Amino acid sequence: MLCCQGYEFVAGGDRAFEVDAARLAYGSGVVREAGSHAKDLGMSRVALFSDRRVAALEPFASVLGSLRASGVDVAVFDETQIEPSDASFRLAAEFARQGSFDGYVSVGGGSVIDTCKAANLYSTYPDDFATYVNAPLGQGKPVPGPLRPHIACPTTSGTGSEVTGIAIFDYLERGAKTGIASKRLRPSLALVDPDCTLTLPKMVVACSGFDVLSHALESYTALPYTRRKKSASPRPMSQGANPFSDIACAEALRILGRYIVRAVGDASDGEARERMMFAATLAGIGFGNAGVHVPHAMAYAVGGLVRDYHPPDYPPEHPLAPHGMAVILNTPAVVRFTAPTDPKRHLEAAAFLGADPRDAGPAEAGEVLAERIEALMRATAMPNGVGGVGFSRDDVGALRDGAVPQKRLLANAPCEIGGPELERLFGDALRYW
Ligand SMILES: [Fe+2]
Repeated sequence: MLCCQGYEFVAGGDRAFEVDAARLAYGSGVVREAGSHAKDLGMSRVALFSDRRVAALEPFASVLGSLRASGVDVAVFDETQIEPSDASFRLAAEFARQGSFDGYVSVGGGSVIDTCKAANLYSTYPDDFATYVNAPLGQGKPVPGPLRPHIACPTTSGTGSEVTGIAIFDYLERGAKTGIASKRLRPSLALVDPDCTLTLPKMVVACSGFDVLSHALESYTALPYTRRKKSASPRPMSQGANPFSDIACAEALRILGRYIVRAVGDASDGEARERMMFAATLAGIGFGNAGVHVPHAMAYAVGGLVRDYHPPDYPPEHPLAPHGMAVILNTPAVVRFTAPTDPKRHLEAAAFLGADPRDAGPAEAGEVLAERIEALMRATAMPNGVGGVGFSRDDVGALRDGAVPQKRLLANAPCEIGGPELERLFGDALRYW
C-alpha cells in the first residue's frame, strides 16, 4: 500500500492535500508598519475595524497613526460585538457598503477580524445574508471572486482568525452558531505583534490559549486526509489531518504545554506571552489547512446555551462562556472517546503537551492525554467541565441538539459522531475532577 509520511492511502480516499499558506509579518512593533503595507496593497481609503475596548488601547492608536502618516484616508468602525451575530455582521456590512472603501484593516480579537471579513464580503458581493453562510443553516454558495485587501492585526493570542478564511457568528435568526468559510476570506496580510498581548487579563489569556491548544489538537487528531472521500476540486478547507498541518500543530502543542500556565499566571512574563502569540499563529495556519472537529462542534452548543455564567475579566453585562473555554470544557471527554481511532497520535499529542507517556500502552492513550489537559485546565483556573459553567444532566439533550447541526465539523472527526455519541460526550464532560 502506498503512503505519504505515515498516511496510508485507502480506496476512494483522497491522495493529495492543499496548502493555503498565509502571508504575515511577525514580531515586536510590526503593527506600526500598517501604513506602508496598506499603501503597498493599493489602499487609499480604509475601513478600520475594532471594538470600543480595543479602540482605547495602544495597538489601535499605533495602527491608526501609521495609516494616517502614510496618507491613507481612514474611517473607524468600533461597534463590533464580542461573539458577533448576523445582526452585528449586517450592521458592519452596511457601514462598509456606504463607505466605498478600497481596503480593510482590523485590530482586535477574532470577533473583530471575523466581522471585518464579513463586511468586506457583503459589501463587495452584496447578496441575501444566507447566501454565503455554511450549509445546512445557510446556502453555502462559493464567494464569487477576490475580496478587497484586508490587513488583520490580532490583539489576542487565540483564534488564528488573521490567517484563516473563516468568520464565526451567532445566527440569531436560526438559533445556532455557524460561520462563513472560504479561502477568499483569508486576510491578505497578518501583522502579528506579540506586544499587543502584554496587557491582556489572565482569563482572556487562558481562554484564548485553550482555543489555540484545541485548534492544534483537533487538527492533529482529525480524520486523516487520505480517509476523506475524494471529491471534485477545490478540496474543502476541513480537508483533514495532513503532513503540513501536522508540523504546525505539533510545534504549537509543544509551545502550549510549556508556556500556557506561565503566560496566564504572570502578565510580566514577556517570553511566555510572546511564545503564545507564535503558537496561535502556527496553529491558525495548521487548522486552516486541516480543520477542527468535535470539541469545537460541542462548543457552539455550550456558548449558545449558557444562561448565567459570568467569567472573570470579561464584560459583565451578558452571560458568556468565552469561545476557548467553551471548547476546552469538552476536550478531555472527546479525547477519551477518540483515542482508540489512533492511540499513537493521541499519545504523541500528550507528549507534545508535556506528559510523559513512555510507560503508557495504546489502551491508556485517551486517559494520558485527557489527564494532561485537565492538569493544564486546573493550573489556569478553568471551570470543572460544562457543569462548571452552569449545565446539569438535565441540559444534556439540549446541548446534544445544539451540536448535531455542526455537520462540517463533525464530518472531520476521526470516527462517526452523531446524536447518541454527542449525548454521551456531554454527559462525560459535566465534571472532570
Ligand atoms: Fe476556535
